[in-house]
Amino acid sequence: MLKIAVLVSGGGTNLQAIIDSIARGDITDTKIAAVVSNNPGAYALKRAEEAGLTTKCISPRSFESRELFNQALTDYLVKSGADLIVLAGFMVVVPAQLISAFKNRIINIHPSLIPSFCGKGYYGLHVHEAALKRGVKVSGATVHFVDEGTDTGPIIMQKPVEVLPDDTPQILQRRIMEQAEWKIMPRVIDLIAHDRVHIKDGKVYISQEGD
Ligand code: GRF
Repeated sequence: MLKIAVLVSGGGTNLQAIIDSIARGDITDTKIAAVVSNNPGAYALKRAEEAGLTTKCISPRSFESRELFNQALTDYLVKSGADLIVLAGFMVVVPAQLISAFKNRIINIHPSLIPSFCGKGYYGLHVHEAALKRGVKVSGATVHFVDEGTDTGPIIMQKPVEVLPDDTPQILQRRIMEQAEWKIMPRVIDLIAHDRVHIKDGKVYISQEGD
């Protein structure tokens, strides 16, 4: 049984997609051990409570320094017994000690086709604003492992989504969530739960069922 901790900051639609996928049996052999938010007002926490999950708010504002926050977050996640950390709209720079405590065991969803529109400053609606400004005809979402860089870790899965002429950043954001994010994040978690995701020389390989 794969134990996951889901880290959130906002609306939590990706968290909801994971909860629903477990309930439907699209993700199997997986349990959400904890949902952690840096933001006490995150609607994602309500979704987690409604699903009967363990929730925890760890806010940087409750600590005297960033270092103390980073340590508290890392300590909590280590103690939670999670095997995998899922960043589902977590708007906090992931502490270095967390990355080393969970090497190749942290995944993130980014709302573009990496390496386009990613890296520092590309978060939330900024990603979709940049895609529309450049005039790309296709965008999408990427699930990747988290390393020390920003959106630089090994890519696990991507899904393209069409950009339409009248799109606003909000409309494109929603289409990418519906058509890509809410599908590939649950899919990747299920693959990891069944030990089908492997990294070799910085690249991800997905093995066939039963391999
Ligand atoms: C998503 O667009 C995700 O790609 C990005 O943050 C957003 C989170 O949305 N990393 P939600 O909180 O899951 O609704």
